[in-house]
Amino acid sequence: MLYFITSNNHKCAEIRKLTDIPIVQRDLSYPEIQADTLQEVAESGAEYCYPRLGEPCFVEDSGLFCDALRGFPGPYSNYVYRTLGCEGILRLVSQNRNAHFASVIAYHDGSEVNLFMGEIRGTLAETIKGEKGFGFDPIFIPEGETRTFAEMETEEKNLYSHRGKAFTAFISYLNQVR
Ligand code: IMP
Repeated sequence: MLYFITSNNHKCAEIRKLTDIPIVQRDLSYPEIQADTLQEVAESGAEYCYPRLGEPCFVEDSGLFCDALRGFPGPYSNYVYRTLGCEGILRLVSQNRNAHFASVIAYHDGSEVNLFMGEIRGTLAETIKGEKGFGFDPIFIPEGETRTFAEMETEEKNLYSHRGKAFTAFISYLNQVR
């Protein structure tokens, strides 16, 4: 069993499809520090959560990085999604539509924090497409595809996604150490 500390049910549903290990979701409402990197945010989240839960656990921090905006919104993606939304991002980019998603999983095993990263490059769609998923899924087309994440089933998104890659790296680490 693994504790995943998140308030985001979508993230949890995606991760559950990637493993047979039971994933127990806990929402500890940990404070997300303001930092320039996902790594710092995730690491401080895991350090906050472990002593409160009293069990090994992981958190995940992710974001959308737009080339035209020099990586914005990046670690501020959650706030930017809530304020500008998908439409706002599409209005901000015009010529250069390249972007990537990144995910960092921070696992606190009771003595230390280990980080696992995943990235997927892609392009921003011209318009919002699809109803599945969450956040910026309707505007992100992963490399090698013509559809947005929001037009894919979870299993398919997982094959490409930043979170799928980070979580797969985490599971292979656990298989080595356990
Ligand atoms: P946080 O990891 O809770 O800080 O939130 C990251 C934000 O980035 C989310 O609220 C989404 O807006 C966006 N985001 C991260 N991963 C994804 C994804 O897989 N699909 C769509 N949006 C994402």
